Amino acid sequence: MNPSIDPRATGFDPLDFPSLFGNDHPVVVEIGSGKGRFLMATARERPEVNLIGIEKSLHYHRFIVDRIARAGLENIRAINHDAFAVLSKMIPAASVDEIHIYFPDPWPRPRERKRRMIRDEVLEEIRRVLRPDGCGIYVTDHEEYFDKAAPLIEQFFRAERRTPGPDDPPRTNYEAKYREQGRPIYEIRFWKS
Ligand SMILES: C[S@@+](CC[C@H](N)C(=O)[O-])C[C@H]1O[C@@H](n2cnc3c(N)ncnc32)[C@H](O)[C@@H]1O
Repeated sequence: MNPSIDPRATGFDPLDFPSLFGNDHPVVVEIGSGKGRFLMATARERPEVNLIGIEKSLHYHRFIVDRIARAGLENIRAINHDAFAVLSKMIPAASVDEIHIYFPDPWPRPRERKRRMIRDEVLEEIRRVLRPDGCGIYVTDHEEYFDKAAPLIEQFFRAERRTPGPDDPPRTNYEAKYREQGRPIYEIRFWKS
């Protein structure tokens, strides 16, 4: 089983999750998977879900695919492309149960902010692809990004802000690194209904 999906080679046709995974288990999507820590841990802890990791960087994508193959995990697929394009072209409406976004690039300079993952057109797509009872999570260490992103998320979803506590295990490499450094972490969970 090849866990890698490269839309440049295979096209941007909408994915059919039951035929992709060979089952109709719930689908969890992660945007910007980095080195794949969340994907790997979740695939092991929750074998009853299917995971899709969307990662723009080819270097990280290859790293993730190698990890999945070595671990022999059957319930992850990794897509190497920009998440907005993947969401809008490849993910069918009301097909996803959870969307996870951990430490997206903050693009701190004013002229770069339009590249941020938390923006109206992406949130519209997230709302479209989530099932009616679907939910999501966005986590960052970047206070200014959070202060802009959280109200946007609250416009699209029912949402709840929270701060991860010392008993919450870090979910990704960036979270582990930043918590070790004692940086504050900002989190918001959201629900479609
Ligand atoms: C700061 S890293 C965080 C990685 C991981 N989520 C973590 O918390 O350890 C941001 C990741 O998002 C990826 N990324 C940035 N823009 C993206 C986009 N438009 N679509 C998909 N992935 C993207 C980057 O390549 C990078 O791997």
